[in-house]
Amino acid sequence: RRRARDRLLELLDRTATFYERMLWEGREAVRARKYLADRGLSEATLREFRVGYAPSRWDTVFLQSQKAGFQARELYDAGLATRGRDGGRLHDYFRGRVMFPLCDVRGRVLGFGARALSPEQRPKYLNTSEKRGLFHKGSIVYGAHLARASAAKAGVVIVCEGYTDVVALRQAGVANAVASMGTALTEEQIVELGRMAPTVQLALDADDAGQDAMLRAARVAAGRRLELRVVPLPAGRDPADVVLTDGADAMRSLVARSVPFVRFRVERTLALGDLTSAEGKDRAIEALRPAFATLGASVLQEELVAMVADRLDISAELARRLLYARSGGDG
Ligand code: CTP
Ligand code: MN
Ligand code: MN
Ligand code: MN
Ligand code: MN
Repeated sequence: RRRARDRLLELLDRTATFYERMLWEGREAVRARKYLADRGLSEATLREFRVGYAPSRWDTVFLQSQKAGFQARELYDAGLATRGRDGGRLHDYFRGRVMFPLCDVRGRVLGFGARALSPEQRPKYLNTSEKRGLFHKGSIVYGAHLARASAAKAGVVIVCEGYTDVVALRQAGVANAVASMGTALTEEQIVELGRMAPTVQLALDADDAGQDAMLRAARVAAGRRLELRVVPLPAGRDPADVVLTDGADAMRSLVARSVPFVRFRVERTLALGDLTSAEGKDRAIEALRPAFATLGASVLQEELVAMVADRLDISAELARRLLYARSGGDG
């Protein structure tokens, strides 16, 4: 068993190296190199992450690996080969895509995330199947092996959604970033983050999916000794977007302006509420109570009460009384 596992690890590592060579030397990869350059990513940064390119033929990795002595079955088990629709012959799973090796915390390649080069190519990301092989999305965070040292040193680990966010952040001088690889942070990923640093700064996409995922992440993290903060990204964007359009300095100053999770939670609840009617305001207060229950007497609490009062257009005294009322409906 152990030997079978080592063989798969070797196959995956060799394949990562092969994809890298294809990206930097392959004639077909001109388009991929341009795509990455247009996204502002430098060769030096991409090499750190071992980013590569999978040629569009159906059998490049297949032939390459068989030449190196690997069996078709092993390619299948590693998630590199798949069967045709009609259950026919095995062929390469990843074709014509930019390849992000997905590594464990020791930097061993367990699988790949593969990005399409154009919007017509679907899905946007194709990942190694979790049904076989060594890769399980929910048990690793992307980029951990590169982020580990600086996260430990800073006492902070930043969590984004995507591969390109982590790569762009590192190029912008923010080396302590990892990605959840999608929106839902799992229990296992939270544990992994806690091993990396005592403070977790969430920098998921500033869209509805990302913001909801941050609220869910906080629920998963509840009860653990983790300090959660949120990086205030501009609406609709992710860290890679910010680095590309506003630059490294702008991104670093957003990271420096991270806010306590509870402030994010209160702001999000206010943003989602209907604050135009008395009933809407009462519902908002109801939704805000659990957040305020976590706050002791503090300047932060005072500021957040004032924010609620301002948004609901009521006095701070009334806001405080309602937010800390024992139960609803007792006047
Ligand atoms: N993801 C995935 N499969 C998809 C879409 C997304 O696995 N079909 C994962 C990827 O890890 C991706 C992350 O979810 O990096 C975040 O998704 P999204 O925000 O949509 O992608 P970006 O990382 O912003 O991708 P890009 O900037 O390349 O468009
Ligand atoms: Mn498995
Ligand atoms: Mn997203
Ligand atoms: Mn994104
Ligand atoms: Mn993006």
